[in-house]
Amino acid sequence: MKLITTFMLLCVSLGVQAHPFPQGDATTGEKLFAQLQCNRCHSNMYGGDGSAIFTRPNRKVNSAPQLLAQIGVCGGNVDKEFSAQEKQNIAAYLNRYYDFK
Ligand code: HEC
Repeated sequence: MKLITTFMLLCVSLGVQAHPFPQGDATTGEKLFAQLQCNRCHSNMYGGDGSAIFTRPNRKVNSAPQLLAQIGVCGGNVDKEFSAQEKQNIAAYLNRYYDFK
């Protein structure tokens, strides 16, 4: 019984680790990102659809909390003050580039 409990706890903790934005919904985040044209400056800077800014070698964001913070900062660029939930959603979407565990 003790072993099973330990195993279950291990699964739960691994699960949390694999999802740094557990409350985020990537699909909703993707829609919001597109709707607000978040990539319009990024694509002027890095060409293509702009997503190269997220994978550039000297990228600014190197952790999950930094990603949430940068989304907040860039929200100002589109005159939008994101709720915590909206930040989680966009972060869950952008994590396809960052791949934070
Ligand atoms: C007015 C132009 C502009 C708009 C619009 C904009 N951004 Fe940005 N974004 C920037 C610039 C400039 C940087 C790079 C900042 C730096 O290197 O210091 C950046 C960087 C970022 C990064 C970090 C990239 C890295 O290096 O890891 C993220 C994440 C990001 N933006 C998200 C967003 C989101 C989400 C939106 C839409 C809400 C958005 N941006 C809209 C200008 C913009």
